[in-house]
Amino acid sequence: MKGIAMTSKTGTLYGIGVGPGDPELLPIKSARILSEVDTVFAAASTKNAYSLAVKIAGPHIPAGTSIQMLQFPMTQDKSETRLAWQTHAGAIITELESGKNVAFLTLGDPLTYSTYGYILKNIQEMAPHIPIVTIPGITSYQAAAACINTPLVEGEESLLVVSGVNGGDRLRQMTVKPENVVFMKAYRNIKDINAALEDADGFARCVGVSNCSLPDQKIIQDVRELNGRTPEYWTIIIAKQSHAGA
Ligand SMILES: C[S@@+](CC[C@H](N)C(=O)[O-])C[C@H]1O[C@@H](n2cnc3c(N)ncnc32)[C@H](O)[C@@H]1O
Repeated sequence: MKGIAMTSKTGTLYGIGVGPGDPELLPIKSARILSEVDTVFAAASTKNAYSLAVKIAGPHIPAGTSIQMLQFPMTQDKSETRLAWQTHAGAIITELESGKNVAFLTLGDPLTYSTYGYILKNIQEMAPHIPIVTIPGITSYQAAAACINTPLVEGEESLLVVSGVNGGDRLRQMTVKPENVVFMKAYRNIKDINAALEDADGFARCVGVSNCSLPDQKIIQDVRELNGRTPEYWTIIIAKQSHAGA
């Protein structure tokens, strides 16, 4: 077992957000923990064992650290997904109970639309004695706002952070529209997201950022440009009302 002092027989689980893509946007604390843990877990699809999170964190993981991919099915079947969370939580618990310190990696922040949230809840239920430390990461929307040098919120403004998987419905449902909206998971239903922004009337600036802080980063100055095509998976939209920031 490496450097981190043990407080009990079991190891500690560290939930680590590796940030949006640039390895320099990973917190110093997370880099230190990655240099000390015995095992790193990360989510992968069932199609391959690739993990962008592992690639981003790579410069901070010493050679010899065990890296284990947990394959999650890309399915709408909730019972299949639940089974995968439980099985993977079980595998992580086994590692922790053998005395190893473990990191679970996720992109961006670990508690924002992340697989870690489900793993965390399952481990808390299945093995409440296990010490868990979650370290925040820079979210993709913070990085996207920085990339376009635009404040996310100012003064008394509000910010709606919402998934775009079901299009713009969540924005339509708001009786009082927020001054600022972040659509995450804007890779699907982009036309409906754009339609909801237009219906809401007043969102004067709607910018898309794909692959933020990665080498192939793209800024889409007007997201209506995306109507005719499917945006990349790593796409986020920041929409601001014309009076925001006034
Ligand atoms: C499952 S969520 C993960 C969110 C992540 N935990 C966070 O804190 O940003 C996946 C969505 O996050 C957004 N995302 C994550 N990284 C991104 C990046 N580098 N550039 C643009 N969007 C990104 C995209 O909207 C993508 O569809």
